[in-house]
Amino acid sequence: MKNVIEVRHPLIDHSLTVIRRKETTTEEFRRHAGIVSKILLVEVMKGLGTANVRIETPLSPMTGRKLKDEVVVVPVLRAGLAMLFAIQDFLPAVSVGFVGLERDEQTAQAREYYRKLPKILASHQVLVIDPMLATGGSFDDTVTLLKEKGAKRITIVSIVSAPEGIKRVQKRHPEVKIFTAAIDDHLNDRKFIVPGLGDFGDRYFGT
Ligand code: PRP
Ligand code: URA
Repeated sequence: MKNVIEVRHPLIDHSLTVIRRKETTTEEFRRHAGIVSKILLVEVMKGLGTANVRIETPLSPMTGRKLKDEVVVVPVLRAGLAMLFAIQDFLPAVSVGFVGLERDEQTAQAREYYRKLPKILASHQVLVIDPMLATGGSFDDTVTLLKEKGAKRITIVSIVSAPEGIKRVQKRHPEVKIFTAAIDDHLNDRKFIVPGLGDFGDRYFGT
């Protein structure tokens, strides 16, 4: 699939299996969701630009590299927070914007209840993070909103994706790259991902 990167790693396979199991506790779920998020995000950030920088080690001057791209991370509340905690270890000063969306349980349509975004420039590398890409409505709405705010370089990162949601995002935003740890089989009639892992937000936050 064009612009879709399914990130494979033995540690992802292991941790993803833990978070999929229905008997996994909240504590284990958080820990392993953190591991999957970190490995995924390291892969996403391989694409960031760097520039030469002159430094001195205790022994000699040398040319090192520093990050050049400015990153804005946009977690989709609430479940996206799980991935924000992971990215902050790598980019402690990253600029963060928030979009709060909640799916209506009957219609599966996302409703926006919160928005707080920093100024976004065309040069910014914008990472939209949300662990579940189901119908794609939440990512679609968030990317549309970010484009209206001036974002030009957008990547989305999910842990588990459904083919239906990927198709929707690809159709609406063909230039956007999608990184995911798993492409599952289908959505059920309640628009949950199958086999999936259930409701990520409820399991991660213990609600
Ligand atoms: C979940 C999930 C995504 C959305 C995915 O959020 O975290 O945001 O559903 O579904 P979609 O692709 O069909 O839009 P939910 O509405 O359960 O809210 P929460 O994050 O607060 O748990
Ligand atoms: N949101 C979730 O948390 N899980 C799904 O399977 C679909 C949407």
